[in-house]
Amino acid sequence: MNRNGSILVVDDEEIMREILETLLSREGYQVRLAANAAEGLELARTLPFDAVILDVMMPGMDGITALDEIKKIDDELPVLMITAFASIENAIAAMKRGAFDYITKPFKNEEVLGVLRNALAQRRLVAENKALRQNLQAHQNRFGEIIGRSSRMRQVFDLIIQAAPSRTTILISGESGTGKELVARALHQNSSRSDRAFITVNSGNLPPDLLESNLFGHVKGAFTGAVYPKKGLFELADKGTIFFDEIGNVPLETQAKLLRVIQEREFMRLGGVETIKVDVRIIAATNVDLRRMVEEGKFREDLYYRLHVITVQLPALRERKDDIPLLVQHFLEKYGRENHKPNLELTPEALDLLLEYDWPGNVRELENVIERAAVLSQGSRIDAALVPDHVRSNRRFQMPQVAIPPEGISFRDVITDFEKRLIESTLEAAGGVQKRAAELLRIKPTTLNEMIKRHDIRPRRKRSGAYASSPARQEAADAPDDEPMDDEFEGGSTWRG
Ligand SMILES: Nc1ncnc2c1ncn2[C@@H]1O[C@H](COP(=O)(O)OP(=O)(O)OP(=O)(O)O)[C@@H](O)[C@H]1O
Ligand SMILES: [Mg+2]
Repeated sequence: MNRNGSILVVDDEEIMREILETLLSREGYQVRLAANAAEGLELARTLPFDAVILDVMMPGMDGITALDEIKKIDDELPVLMITAFASIENAIAAMKRGAFDYITKPFKNEEVLGVLRNALAQRRLVAENKALRQNLQAHQNRFGEIIGRSSRMRQVFDLIIQAAPSRTTILISGESGTGKELVARALHQNSSRSDRAFITVNSGNLPPDLLESNLFGHVKGAFTGAVYPKKGLFELADKGTIFFDEIGNVPLETQAKLLRVIQEREFMRLGGVETIKVDVRIIAATNVDLRRMVEEGKFREDLYYRLHVITVQLPALRERKDDIPLLVQHFLEKYGRENHKPNLELTPEALDLLLEYDWPGNVRELENVIERAAVLSQGSRIDAALVPDHVRSNRRFQMPQVAIPPEGISFRDVITDFEKRLIESTLEAAGGVQKRAAELLRIKPTTLNEMIKRHDIRPRRKRSGAYASSPARQEAADAPDDEPMDDEFEGGSTWRG
C-alpha cells in the first residue's frame, strides 16, 4: 500500500472528483473515486482505506446516510465531509454522527490537505494504541508460549525482550521443568534470526568424540567409519541459534572447543585443516549450579564467564504460585482440545490441592497432572479425586491461626472442636475410607471409629462431584437424617456410593 495512505473520494460532481484526485495524487496519496454513495460503499467494503472524503449533497443516498454506513464498515475510518455553505447544518449533524471534520466549498487546497493529515495522524495513533494495548495484554498473561503474570515471570519477559535482538550468549538457569527450552525458543523467535535454524544440542548422553563430531562435523576419513564428510550442528545453525540443553553435561575437553567457537566464531571439522566461520547465537541452559561445578573443577571457569554474560533465572513454580491458576487454565484448554472435552474446569477443592503442593517437577509436573486428569475425567468438572495421591499427601499441614478474644475461650471446647474438624478433613482426604484416615492420622482404626462416634461425625453427601467443605454447606448436608450412616463408617467402607 501507498506510504502516505489511500483515500476514497465520493462526490457526484465530476469536476470536484478531478480536482481532489489531482491534489491528493500530487501529495503522494493513492486515490480511488466514486460518483455516488452506493459506489463508494462498495469500494469501502472491498478495499482498505485510510480516510474518506465524502460529499454531503448527492442524489440518491446522501452523504449523512453514507457516513452511517461507512461507520458500520469501519468504525475508526476517518471521514471528511465536504459541503456547500447552504448545508452547514448537515455538516454539523455529520460531525455528531462521527465524521472527523468538514470542509466547505469552495475550499483551499491547503485546508483539505491539513485536515487530511490530521485525520491520518489520528488513525495511525488509534491503530498504534490498539497494537500497544494488545501487546500489553499479551504481556500480562503470557509471552508467546510462556504463560505467567507473576512479577518474577514479567521480569523474565522483559529480559527476553531486551536480550533477544543481540547476538550475546545467554545462560538460562532453572530447575527441571521450569521452561528453559521455551525461553530459549522465545529468544530465538524474537531475534532477527527467527527465520533461520534453531538447533538443540542435548549434551547429556553422548561420548565426547561423538558429541564433537555432531557439533563440528568431520572430514572424510577423520576416523574409522567416517566414509563421507559431514556437516556439524554449528554449520547447520549458521545465521541461526544453537541451544545447548544441560550445558553442565558437556565434557571438559569439548568445553575448550566450545569456548573457541564462542570467542572466535570459527572452528574446524574433525580431522580437517580448514577453519569454518559461522555466525551463530549460543544459548545454554542448566539446572545445576555451574558456579559450584567450576569450584569442583568440573566446568571451565573461562567458559562459565563467557556464558554468563546475560543470565535468565527461571523461578521454580513454588516461588510463583500465583501463576498456577493461569497455567491450569492453559493446560485445561490444551488437553481439553486434545481429548475432545471442551470447557474442562477444576473444582475449588482440586485447585486448592494444586496450590498447596510444592511442585518439585515444576510446570512439567503440573502439566502432566492436568493432562492425566483431563484424560480420566468423566464430565467437564475435575474434582479432588482426580488429583494424584502424591500431590495431595504432600500438602503441608498448617495449624490454623487462632485469634483469642478479649474475654478468653474455653481450652476444652477449642480442642474438641479442632479434633472434630481434623477427623472430618482427614476422612475427606481419605475418600471416606476410615482405615486410610486412621493411617493418615497415625492412630488405630478402632480409636478413630470411637472418636467419630463421640463427635457424632456423619458422612457428607456427595455434591456435584466434590465434598461440601464450608460448615454451612456441611450442616445442610448433614441435616436430614434419612440414611443409615453408622454402617458406612465401618473400617474399609467408603462414603461414596
Ligand atoms: N511458563 C510456562 N508456560 C507454559 N508452559 C510451560 C511453562 N514452563 C514450562 N512449560 C511446559 O513445561 C514443559 C517443560 O518445559 P521445558 O522443557 O521448557 O522445561 P526445562 O526447564 O527445559 O526442563 P528440563 O530441565 O527438564 O529440560 C513443556 O511442556 C513446556 O511447554
Ligand atoms: Mg529442557
